[in-house]
This record gives sequence, structure tokens and C-alpha cells, in this order.
Amino acid sequence: MRKKIVAGNWKMNKTLPEAIELVENILKANTSAEVYKIFIPPFPFIYPVSKAIEKTASHFFVGAQNLHDKESGAFTGETSLAALKSVGATYVLVGHSERRSYFNESAEFLKNKINTCIAGNITPIYCFGEMLAEREANKHFEIIEQQLNESVFHLSAEDIVKLVLAYEPVWAIGTGKTASPQQAQEVHQFIRTCLEKKYNKQIADSISILYGGSCNAQNAKELFSMPDIDGGLIGGASLKAEDFVTIINSFS
Ligand code: PGA
Repeated sequence: MRKKIVAGNWKMNKTLPEAIELVENILKANTSAEVYKIFIPPFPFIYPVSKAIEKTASHFFVGAQNLHDKESGAFTGETSLAALKSVGATYVLVGHSERRSYFNESAEFLKNKINTCIAGNITPIYCFGEMLAEREANKHFEIIEQQLNESVFHLSAEDIVKLVLAYEPVWAIGTGKTASPQQAQEVHQFIRTCLEKKYNKQIADSISILYGGSCNAQNAKELFSMPDIDGGLIGGASLKAEDFVTIINSFS
């Protein structure tokens, strides 16, 4: 059985009191115990959030939005895997489109980050997806396969299953323009076919693939009802407790 996951990528939002208030309100609500719920706040809030979820029994985790591939050293402004683990992070986003486009993160750098995560035993959520022009040119399948090949398909069969994948069409991120459940399902199914071709069917069937891009309290149910969509990576809608709780409870 694949894990059902709802991860909230807060991006560069909230202050510490706001962060704690949001987490406490979500912890107070009734949320499905079987769903893995991951808070991905800005770095300064990882430790307090990990403390806030410490005593909850029901599959709450905290993750980071980024990490550096090197172990330690003179990389001003960067954060190492060991630092992240020491403050309670168990997941980390790798390859988010905002990192790729605003910070010029290359496929090679992302590959190195993936290797760092696997070696250091933290779960990477590998984000990838096509841009609008690529979809309009009907190149999205090609781009998606390329992004898998470049940064994660070097992993062994034993290691690839330690990954979570997040398909995020760039044209849907923060735009309010969600992929239709059919469009998302079509790509998720294609990703599973790529996994099967590269590894095998058992591996393809065991990896959780999240959808991200304007997923919200209104459309999550329909998206999550698709056979190859195992949850969501939520930006804007993860900043409001009520919406995030509705999304967590959107699996049928
Ligand atoms: P959004 O962001 O839900 O605000 O579109 C998703 C993401 O960037 O992970």
C-alpha cells in the first residue's frame, strides 16, 4: 500500500507566533490518522514545529524547503542535512520549480542533493513538472521523463523507493489554474510507467506520487480520487488551518 501524504509548503510565509498558531489549530482538528501530514515551514520554524508535533501520535512530520548537498563548510546562507536532522526534519523538498527558476538550481545539483538525502536518511520529496510553453508544445511527457532521468533515475532499486515524487506543473503553481484531475492522472500514470520501465512494476506501484499546483480545499477530493494520485503538495492553501484540514480529509 502506498502512503497517502499531504504536505504543506509554506514557502516564505508566516512569523513564529503565526506558525505555531497554524500548527496548533491543525493538531486540534480531526484529521485522518492514516494520512502522512507534513509541515514544510521556513527554516527558523522547523525546530519549534517539530517540538509542537512531538507528542502527537498520528503521523505528523516536519520537513525543510531546501538543503545543501555538501556535508558542512563555507557555504554562507546554506543548511546541511545534519543540521536539518538535528532540529527534527525528516523530509526535504528537492527541485521545487521556484528553486530551479529563481535560484538556478541545475539538474546536477539536484541529483547531488538527492544523493545527500538518501545517504543521510532523510526523505526527499522530488518536485518536477513542465512549464506552460512546454505543455502548449505538447512536450510535457518528454520533459517529465528527462527530469526523472537527470536527477533521480541514477538511484538503485533499493534507494528509489525511499523517495516521494511530486508532480507540479509550473503553470499551475500559485496561479489558481489547477491541472484537471484527468490531466494530473494522465501524467501520474505516465510517471509510473517510467518507473516501471526503469525499475519494475512493484517499485512503480510502491512510490507515492503527489500532485501540486493550486490544489485546494475545493478540488482536493476529486484530484485524490484518481488512482495514481497519492496526495498533494500544497502551497497557498496550506497556510490556513481549515483549508489544510479539509485537504487532509479529502481521501475517500
Ligand atoms: P500552490 O503551490 O499550491 O500555491 O500552487 C504549490 C507548490 O508550489 O508546492
